[in-house]
Amino acid sequence: MKPTATFLSLALISLATFQTTLSSHSSPLTTLFLTLFALSLNYWLLPGGFAWRNYYYPKLSEKLIGPMGWPILGVLPYMGSLAHAKLAALATSLKAKRLMALSLGATPVVISSHPETAREILYGSSFSDRPIKESAQALMFERAIGFAPSGTYWRHLRRIASFHMFSPRRIQSLESLRQRVVDEMVKRTWNEVEEKGVVEVRGIFQEGSLCNILESVFGNTDKREELGDMVKEGYGLIAEFNLEDYFPLKFLDFYGVKRRCHKLAGKVSSVVGQIVEERKREGEFIGKNDFLSTLLSLPKEESLDDSDMLPILWEMIFRGTDTVAILLEWIMARMVLHQDIQMKARQEIDMCIGQNSHVRDSDIPNLPFLQAIVKEVLRLHPPGPLLSWARLAVHDVHVDKVLVPAGTTAMVNMWAISHDSTIWEDPWTFKPERFLKEDVSIMGSDLRLAPFGAGRRVCPGRALGLATVHLWLAQLLHRFIWLPAQQVDLSECLRLSLEMKTPLRCIVVPR
Ligand code: HEM
Repeated sequence: MKPTATFLSLALISLATFQTTLSSHSSPLTTLFLTLFALSLNYWLLPGGFAWRNYYYPKLSEKLIGPMGWPILGVLPYMGSLAHAKLAALATSLKAKRLMALSLGATPVVISSHPETAREILYGSSFSDRPIKESAQALMFERAIGFAPSGTYWRHLRRIASFHMFSPRRIQSLESLRQRVVDEMVKRTWNEVEEKGVVEVRGIFQEGSLCNILESVFGNTDKREELGDMVKEGYGLIAEFNLEDYFPLKFLDFYGVKRRCHKLAGKVSSVVGQIVEERKREGEFIGKNDFLSTLLSLPKEESLDDSDMLPILWEMIFRGTDTVAILLEWIMARMVLHQDIQMKARQEIDMCIGQNSHVRDSDIPNLPFLQAIVKEVLRLHPPGPLLSWARLAVHDVHVDKVLVPAGTTAMVNMWAISHDSTIWEDPWTFKPERFLKEDVSIMGSDLRLAPFGAGRRVCPGRALGLATVHLWLAQLLHRFIWLPAQQVDLSECLRLSLEMKTPLRCIVVPR
């Protein structure tokens, strides 16, 4: 690149000098400004932009491809509510689907929009850490699974969670809880329709998801309201744009995000800490099925102290609430929009269990069309289109023969991959049948569709999330016929997760 930038810089410097020489009126300030601007071009007019200014090409390394973006800001102005779609379009237009370099302020980033390079990033041991935002750090997530560096502590937490929170046996043992929660959601849906004539499902799904995760983590929902508010506030804070995350300005707090996060972390510690203390006072942990009791009954060599227990309990509630609710809202939007598909799913359920009985977890393997619907919604509307949490190169590494220096943030645009017409036939059409023809695993082995990520840091909650969504969807379709209350608006809004911009409103007819 450098020749173009150098040429432009030299041209501008000459112009500035020439102007000063010619005009006795031109101010030295203008000249200084033009000269500085010209010099800064050298650091900006590069593939990938400003953050790649110190990049060097080793022998045999392929060239970087990527947008220059704005001076200093890079592509930060792109990172709004449709960042996934804008980045996908950019990668296509620059022919950089395999790997695109870009600058988020002073942070160098590479992004893959291709299954092969996505695999290299997600499975590569060089990308086993995550870059942490100031807000996530202040909210204690650095001591929880999602952001802990990939050493002994992280492995210990993951092992505990896989065994005591997400094991198939535990998921199975929580079926009666999921059934109770969905019964409550059905009741609330009907009450709202009777009262108002329509139901806005978002609130009901969020409340259901929150109760489900709280009971699973604490064994009760006593602090439901407080914790629900905290999850909402935390989501808002982490999703908020914070200049300090992209520039070395950590000592500043432009938007007060850090201050608000510390305040919230204090509240979380107090509320969750109180629950832990009460449980300790009660004693009796053996025979209880909630995650907190299990943590408290771990043998000494495995046990966590309180300062580590709080972040992991808080993380489970934080991650387990919105993901499931958001996915379910997208699914119901598709069901309302495609009545033929809704009817076909209901016929499958009726055939499997009869019209009067209850759907059980054990029925789900016999409902392939229902499972295909969930996969198709995860393809079209993945809750984490950029896989939510990026990865960090812990040392220099090659991806697709391009050198990626240590410290680079690596992202996978799963939304771009799952909407790519060279990978998926008719990618914009909602067609669950495609998964009956070809069984695509969504658990992380097939990078054409990996909505839960892949590799060592794949989502540990994926089986629990899917068990919940499958059962609840089957029950909701079994109990009601779902109709649109107004035109369904499928516009997207990326905050921490990819949400429906306009909340879904429906009418239901009981069966
Ligand atoms: C529809 C539901 C869900 C979706 C779409 C989802 C998606 C994701 C994604 C994309 C990642 C990043 C994976 C990667 O970097 O490769 C992730 C990580 C994670 N998820 Fe989920 N998730 C869901 C449900 C859950 C639930 C229910 C929980 C817990 C109760 C959970 C806990 C976590 C944790 C702790 C991590 C961090 C893992 C690590 O860094 O080692 N998720 N999830």
